[in-house]
Amino acid sequence: MDGNFTFSIIKPNAVRTGKTGPILAMINEAGFEIAAMKMVKMTVEQAESFYAVHKGKSFFESLIEFMTSGPVFVMILKHDNAVEEFRKLIGATDPNKAEPGTIRKIFAISVQMNAVHGSDSDENAQKEADFFFSTFERFLI
Ligand code: RTP
Ligand code: MG
Repeated sequence: MDGNFTFSIIKPNAVRTGKTGPILAMINEAGFEIAAMKMVKMTVEQAESFYAVHKGKSFFESLIEFMTSGPVFVMILKHDNAVEEFRKLIGATDPNKAEPGTIRKIFAISVQMNAVHGSDSDENAQKEADFFFSTFERFLI
């Protein structure tokens, strides 16, 4: 069965340049409901744990440096078939390959500084939501 929520991060480049509001507007207009949200500045340990799957890759250290470079918004988003629908809304990892009208096409400035994260499976959505939010910090789901 498809999950009804996904987990997202508005990344430091987008927060720093005042794009949080416009990105949230696109998320709301696409029919996602915010089930949890907070602003956090990740520690290096948190970012390494969150991105553990990429440990050893060429971009890992640079990714950790970027993701800890400033505050981010972490969110749980509710929608039918949320993981797939949200990945469609954000577009490809590389903004040059992202479809017109997607969040990354509009707000990404590079492959790394691609404005938003979206979970890639229901299992990871659950893990990532649990990584940042307690039961008492989430609603609707
Ligand atoms: P995300 O996890 O952030 O939603 O992005 P994704 O699934 O589309 O991409 P993933 O392969 O999981 O990569 C995680 C993040 O690492 C940075 N990245 N840099 N070649 C590179 O320099 C490179 N490749 C990936 C991006 O910030 C990507 O979103
Ligand atoms: Mg990913």
